[in-house]
Amino acid sequence: MIRLIDNFDLTTYNSFNLKVNTDRFFEFTEVEELQFFLQTEKLPEKYLVLGGGSNLLFQNNFEGLLIHPNLQGVGEINEDRNYIYLEAGCGVEWDDLVRLSVQYELSGLENLSLIPGNVGAAPVQNIGAYGVEAKDRIHLVRGVNLESNEVVEFTNEECKFGYRNSIFKNELKNKVVVTSVVFKLDKFPEFNLEYGALKSEVDKLGEVNTSNVRQTVISIRESKLPDPAKVGNAGSFFKNPIVSNDFANRLKTTFKDLPVYASSEEQTKLAAGWLIEKCGWKGFREGDVGVHPNQALVIVNYGNAKGEQLVHLSTQIKNSVFEKFGVQLDTEVNII
Ligand code: EPU
Repeated sequence: MIRLIDNFDLTTYNSFNLKVNTDRFFEFTEVEELQFFLQTEKLPEKYLVLGGGSNLLFQNNFEGLLIHPNLQGVGEINEDRNYIYLEAGCGVEWDDLVRLSVQYELSGLENLSLIPGNVGAAPVQNIGAYGVEAKDRIHLVRGVNLESNEVVEFTNEECKFGYRNSIFKNELKNKVVVTSVVFKLDKFPEFNLEYGALKSEVDKLGEVNTSNVRQTVISIRESKLPDPAKVGNAGSFFKNPIVSNDFANRLKTTFKDLPVYASSEEQTKLAAGWLIEKCGWKGFREGDVGVHPNQALVIVNYGNAKGEQLVHLSTQIKNSVFEKFGVQLDTEVNII
């Protein structure tokens, strides 16, 4: 089904709940519908692909075409000795897919429970949490190239995944619409419980199984992260910065309790939430914009904030982290 609507209200299509419009909104639920659209209409200069809207911030109304791919359905497409291959439409809500996989006792996605957004965004920003990234489970990504109007397919390797990064945010930015993703899930689970207190929290529920891991991750997330249905937010606003080992070691001599994680042989990942908290921002609120009281990486809209105000706050945070620590924060949220 196609929906093509002028002057469309995006308030419920962005998890910051910003009251913005788009000049034109195009939703499709089948690959052929997108291909038909591209055959009959020329793409305007300004367009944007919007999935679940949980990782972007509109500064103003969007004066262009908003493309909303909404393919539904999850199905098994293959099986071998150890794995089941599930293909999910890009419009499937991410957590519905995780819930379903856990229900069928397939393992691999349980650490990624309750991440807001749709399946289509998972490969684009390589979503991750609690020691697992989408890339660990993505087998294939299918989509349509907006320039050639051809159906395209990418293997895991071709996606060039990195920390919250992929080819779809770089060379292919705005060129490919992801329409479905094939995930490779374990029949015989191997759990990843290395992150923080995950293992001990799961143990409290008794047996270590996919369902208990999911439940634990949900409890941890609910205790730290605001529910976008209640308070507008887009999860982590910034990425955890990656710096040289030398730089991290120097910082560590001054700030002994700075949390650091090995990123590669030469590089270290720092906890942006810690840096922001130490600059005094945690729980900050001015009017309807603020920093979440339980997780300083999350910027929130308490009601009627404007996109520009949220961006202004993010700039203030960036500046103060740079002044205190000499660390440049990059936004994870896509600012439009
Ligand atoms: N920390 C603070 N203060 C804070 C927040 C964190 O001191 O306000 C410290 C924590 O005590 C801990 C360290 O920073 O020592 C890391 O904190 P946490 O475990 O909460 O994770 P994070 O690095 O802040 C990342 C992801 C989250 C993901 C969690 C759990 C990024 C940008 N964020 O946050 O992802 O849920 O790990 O795996 O990588 C998202 O991307 O939207 C997101 C929520």
